[in-house]
Amino acid sequence: MKTIEKIGESDFLITKEYKRFVEFCEACRRNRYIGMCYGLPGVGKTISARHYAHSDVLEYLAANPREDNPPEDMKQCRTIVYTPTVSNTPKQIDAEVSKLRHHLKFVVRDANRDENSELSHSFHTPEDCTELIIVDEADRLRLQGLEQMRDISDRGRIGLVLVGMPGLEKRLSRHAQLYSRVGFAHEYKPLSREEMLFILEHKWRELGLTLQPDDFTDMEAVSAVIRITHGNFRLIQRLFTQIDRILKINELRTITTEVVDTARENLVIGMS
Ligand SMILES: Nc1ncnc2c1ncn2[C@@H]1O[C@H](COP(=O)(O)OP(=O)(O)O)[C@@H](O)[C@H]1O
Ligand SMILES: [Mg+2]
Repeated sequence: MKTIEKIGESDFLITKEYKRFVEFCEACRRNRYIGMCYGLPGVGKTISARHYAHSDVLEYLAANPREDNPPEDMKQCRTIVYTPTVSNTPKQIDAEVSKLRHHLKFVVRDANRDENSELSHSFHTPEDCTELIIVDEADRLRLQGLEQMRDISDRGRIGLVLVGMPGLEKRLSRHAQLYSRVGFAHEYKPLSREEMLFILEHKWRELGLTLQPDDFTDMEAVSAVIRITHGNFRLIQRLFTQIDRILKINELRTITTEVVDTARENLVIGMS
């Protein structure tokens, strides 16, 4: 069984874009601003938001309330990630966000619990401690839903980050009242070429291989991956699942351009 310390650590890589995203969220949290983060599908918005907010640990604790004490780093956790359902109503949004905030305050209380004073703590209800709400898939919110989120943010003096697809900004700009409150807009970009090299070294290692930057075959394969994926994380993952398969079937130990192209052919959708 996974111990709670291991939850959420999985394969997340700290990229430059992730660091920029964290800075952006921190600014919105500190200043209680409304911020907007937009980017193409698959660049890593959802996974970054969840990593930043320790969502895996929070969800694990919600499902297993008596299982473990929250890990140390939950002491400072002040963020929730909320994903509205496709058909959402303001009432439902309000209820779901309240539930997440409610859960967070108990987790933070437990994480801060002094072992010697366990009893004295267990009777009082902790104060709400949410300082930032990240709304993933914010494109799903209609005007009333957006108004509901703004109201929650205003009442609680909570920062708000709306995460969505490119075009979100344009949509929000039609709602003057909300738009005037947006303090920052942030684009979540695909991986740069230099960073792709770093990620691909990691991918090669995952398959038990070593990427040699001075090896022509390796670099040719790297170029092919970059050309096909354009630095899109989801496409990289999908492509490598196929590369792994092709290497195994053919008992190969080298990723060549041919291997990459064959992998690509197996991924019909979203690769053109
Ligand atoms: N920093 C990262 N480390 C590891 N894998 C990542 C990272 N960013 C993205 N991915 C991979 O890309 C996939 C798509 O990311 P996701 O956050 O769902 O994209 P988006 O929300 O922008 O559409 C993830 O499921 C994951 O496999
Ligand atoms: Mg997403």
